[in-house]
Amino acid sequence: MVKRIQVVITGANGFVAKNLRKYLSKNNIDLISISRSDFKEYKNESKIISKNYDEKIILNKIKNSDVIIHLVGLGKQSVDIDYEMINVEFTKHIVNLAKKAKIKKIIYNSGLGVSSKTSVGYFISKYKAEKIIINSGLNYTIFRPSYIVGKDDLFTKFLKKRIKIKTIEIPGSGNYSIQPISINDVVKIIFQSFDQIKFKNKIIDLVGPDYLTFEQYVKLFSKGTKTKIKKINLENAYFDAITNSKSNFGVDDLNILIGDFKGNYNKLQKITQMNFESVIELLKSGRLL
Ligand SMILES: NC(=O)c1ccc[n+]([C@@H]2O[C@H](COP(=O)([O-])OP(=O)(O)OC[C@H]3O[C@@H](n4cnc5c(N)ncnc54)[C@H](OP(=O)(O)O)[C@@H]3O)[C@@H](O)[C@H]2O)c1
Repeated sequence: MVKRIQVVITGANGFVAKNLRKYLSKNNIDLISISRSDFKEYKNESKIISKNYDEKIILNKIKNSDVIIHLVGLGKQSVDIDYEMINVEFTKHIVNLAKKAKIKKIIYNSGLGVSSKTSVGYFISKYKAEKIIINSGLNYTIFRPSYIVGKDDLFTKFLKKRIKIKTIEIPGSGNYSIQPISINDVVKIIFQSFDQIKFKNKIIDLVGPDYLTFEQYVKLFSKGTKTKIKKINLENAYFDAITNSKSNFGVDDLNILIGDFKGNYNKLQKITQMNFESVIELLKSGRLL
């Protein structure tokens, strides 16, 4: 009899995790999904609810699983919770749990733009998390995603709200570009990376085939909706981000956009041999609205 694969997922209620759990469940993977708050289980899924991912609650249940996919991450910090606590220390905790549970493989989402030369706090924390994983001795695959697009991602939800009030604001010129990737492709790639040797101990950009400027993206998204697109001064956008915790764009959202990062799509295509969904076509189809 073929042994079934057992996969542990952290941050189960997040955007990537929800889509991934659904996809893996459909593919008959056994799931153990961990979250701070309750959620509905899919077929072949068991859940663990724990605020601090308490070893006493978790360790026995995840013992000898095949893969752990660590999807807990923080993209905006405050005095109560910062990048060091979640992106660095929490990753350390998960790596320790994985080692004690004798899980062989860890998959982690870092970020496009992470490098040893970065001076951005968010990327520094992701860089440190990458190092913890690389030095763990576990078999790893680290992905560096650009913006992951789906019907239920944070930015799509934000744009839909803005369309309702008929104005979308663009910080600065809007000429900086993004290289979005569809969530449907992301879940397939993560699935491939479980046991294929091409993914073993690699850092791989998770980017789609199309580059487009932020302005083009927003225009295509809102096409046919009579939404006004308004450019706001970049200084004002940063001022709002620095002084208002509820600003539309956080400081690091702006840093990432202005950073204009590009990833190696050709390498990803070569490794996965997949036909990628064009996000431009997805936007044109209006399916995200
Ligand atoms: N989405 C993208 O475009 C994108 C791009 C680049 C990198 N990434 C990375 O991919 C990963 C998943 O992204 P996502 O878009 O799915 O993010 P998300 O929707 O914000 O989900 C992250 C999850 O992390 C968990 N979490 C957050 N704060 C926590 C805390 N203080 N303690 C414990 N758990 C906490 C939460 O899970 P529970 O609510 O279940 O507890 C949350 O749902 C993250 O590491 C992110 O940085 C995403």
